[in-house]
Amino acid sequence: MGLLGETWEAFLLMIPAMVANGSAVLVRHGTPIDFRKTLWDGRRVLGDGKTFEGLLVALSFATIMGGVLAAATGEAPRLAYGFLAGLGAMLGDMAGSFVKRRLNLARGAPLPVVDQLDFVAGAALLLYLAGAPLGIYGLVLVSALILVLHRATNLAAHRLGLKDVPW
Ligand code: CTP
Ligand code: MG
Repeated sequence: MGLLGETWEAFLLMIPAMVANGSAVLVRHGTPIDFRKTLWDGRRVLGDGKTFEGLLVALSFATIMGGVLAAATGEAPRLAYGFLAGLGAMLGDMAGSFVKRRLNLARGAPLPVVDQLDFVAGAALLLYLAGAPLGIYGLVLVSALILVLHRATNLAAHRLGLKDVPW
């Protein structure tokens, strides 16, 4: 598989992860996964931004997207890859929040790169463990693309007055 093919494959594998990450935001209030528990540092384990409802929505949407990709390509494993990518994305997202809380960052405070790529790393790990055809160069290029897209969409949302800060 050439670089273009590898990048396209990585992109297809990451679509459900992006859907998971984007759809969790639909949940405004829910039950915190950490049950509001704090750790030795007096900070929340994960914080109010990680809820069971968000996790459920993300897994559902990622699996549906996996089903759509399986149907569109005729490649049945894409259904399971979709679920795994969604699960990995949410685990990576939680790991990112765990790190942010340990750094004493409040819920929603920005931590560049970690905020944008924690879900990609988690999805990549589970996809790799499941034996999905995810190449390192394809993964790196898709990660770069996601970083650029985040900046572009946040800037646009800021210009449109939907977001207070342009990042
Ligand atoms: N969300 C959720 N449950 C999850 C993940 C996300 O309910 N498992 C929702 C929350 O409403 C969250 C929003 O999606 O506020 C955006 O997610 P994210 O940016 O990851 O959370 P932050 O609020 O920025 O919190 P953190 O500082 O922990 O990243
Ligand atoms: Mg955030």
